[in-house]
Amino acid sequence: MAYLQLDSIQKSFGDAHIIKGVNLEIDKGEFIVFVGPSGCGKSTLLRLIAGLEPITSGQLMLDGKDITHIPSGKRDLAMVFQSYALYPHMSVYDNMSFALKLANVAKDTIKTKVDHAAKTLNLTQYLTRTPKELSGGQRQRVAIGRAIVRAPKVFLFDEPLSNLDAALRGNTRVEIHKLHRALGATSIYVTHDQVEAMTLADRVVVLRDGLIEQVGTPMELYDRPANQFVAQFIGMPSMNMVDARAIPSFSAQTGGRLPSDGFLGVRPEGLRVHRDHGAGAPGKVELIEALGADTLIHVEVGGVPLVARQNERTELQAGDVVSVELDPSVLHFFNREGRKVAA
Ligand SMILES: Nc1ncnc2c1ncn2[C@@H]1O[C@H](COP(=O)(O)OP(=O)(O)OP(=O)(O)O)[C@@H](O)[C@H]1O
Ligand SMILES: [Mg+2]
Repeated sequence: MAYLQLDSIQKSFGDAHIIKGVNLEIDKGEFIVFVGPSGCGKSTLLRLIAGLEPITSGQLMLDGKDITHIPSGKRDLAMVFQSYALYPHMSVYDNMSFALKLANVAKDTIKTKVDHAAKTLNLTQYLTRTPKELSGGQRQRVAIGRAIVRAPKVFLFDEPLSNLDAALRGNTRVEIHKLHRALGATSIYVTHDQVEAMTLADRVVVLRDGLIEQVGTPMELYDRPANQFVAQFIGMPSMNMVDARAIPSFSAQTGGRLPSDGFLGVRPEGLRVHRDHGAGAPGKVELIEALGADTLIHVEVGGVPLVARQNERTELQAGDVVSVELDPSVLHFFNREGRKVAA
């Protein structure tokens, strides 16, 4: 049996039906990431699991116990928010030990736990400071430390790094990854960040409009998206999506595999742009984005804007006439309704 099990979970706020029946099984020690467009219900689903909002219908099981109607404080879960929600007048040590104190844990035990968490999070030298004497990244680590000392059954993170700048975000992401490997704690993590989702997750849950679209390892979602929505949501820049009838030369390049009434999906790295008038579809360069390690070439083919990505630098410039070829091994085909069809 799964460690954490969501069974037909639904949530309405008044007339607004927000979570429309979510089934999900999470194993002990798994790192699960929720992604999806703004407003699709990620935070709401996390808050239902945390017990911060009552579940309208469905069942929630943790470690063999029905916790659907158990109050938040008794669920043995710890939540880390985007806003750190630290007590401003308390030291880092007191912030981290607060929940244990409330639970009447012995002083020595508290000290051992806080010292250990502080060491894990590189916070030992800051234990006597107050939050306002810390950087954003240090504050976020305190918020994580406060969750760690409670040794909860499940960690719940709602966009914990979104207030940090890019460099700090990257560092803290790596810290969270290492921490997860060290603690092996079951975690659910909400993010908008593709890199966080792809690097942290054992499995990613793609949500849309209160329902799960697909669940899988990051690479499964990248290589085998079940539908157009997941195909275009996972990956940056997005998968190019071309109406089957828009570029006749592409249909020819797929060797007739492209359904006539559907869509061709091809990731930017699956497009090759050549200067010569080769066998590909004729197009025109619109824009070059040189990112250092790789280059994005925006081209227009038969009125359709496409993005190609290559590792090499390019001599091409906006306005150049080019030929665009598909890598036949990485194509995705979708029907009119957006469902994946066999290639
Ligand atoms: N307390 C509430 N009362 C009424 N509607 C709510 C309440 N909380 C959330 N909602 C609605 O539920 C929907 C989902 O909100 P939620 O915060 O879960 O989205 P999200 O996926 O976390 O989005 P974001 O990526 O922007 O954080 C939104 O349409 C929101 O307006
Ligand atoms: Mg949210």
